[in-house]
Amino acid sequence: MSPRARPQLAIYPGSFDPITRGHEDIVRRTLRFCDGVVVAVSHHATQLKHGLFSVGERLELIQQVFDDDERIEAVAFSGLLVDFARKREINLIVRGLRAVSDFEYEFQMALMNRDLQPGIETLFLAPDARYSFLSASLVREVAALGGDISAFVAPVVQKQILQKLGEQ
Ligand code: COA
Repeated sequence: MSPRARPQLAIYPGSFDPITRGHEDIVRRTLRFCDGVVVAVSHHATQLKHGLFSVGERLELIQQVFDDDERIEAVAFSGLLVDFARKREINLIVRGLRAVSDFEYEFQMALMNRDLQPGIETLFLAPDARYSFLSASLVREVAALGGDISAFVAPVVQKQILQKLGEQ
């Protein structure tokens, strides 16, 4: 088989407030069939939610979590995801499907993105069952109420969550 002319990259978009073990799991699964992953923090998505971390802080946490792997890049983007993908010349979007409840929203987004840019495909990956109930806001809530979140986020993320909550 001849080698690929260009590295196959995927965009993994989201709000990542903050990155959890569930997100990490999706990134690592993507690297089984892609050469690199662009973890893309959406300015728009983050404006719609009442968040804990700034976009810059989210990027920093993603970089720290994947510090040992240069195939993973963390960037922020504004506007439409398909425009960002076009600029980066990437035609693959990766999303995690945690449960049936994710399906309708994800399906709508995938079809809308393909309508906006026909060359783009969305690939859905099932996360490890240990993380299928996780969400960033649940992790933040459990931490705020004194629960143990060490199984759900990397140590560096846990430290920053606790520090942030302590400041509030
Ligand atoms: N493990 C753990 N948690 C996960 C997860 C996984 N594998 N996958 C998703 N989640 C959680 C997230 O933590 C998040 O939790 P929260 O709501 O408590 O913060 C929730 O599921 C969903 O968030 P996320 O995956 O970050 O998606 P989103 O809905 O915030 O953002 C975008 C989706 C960014 C992809 C979308 O809004 C977008 O593309 N925006 C750009 C503008 C655009 O192009 N709009 C048109 C889209 S058709």
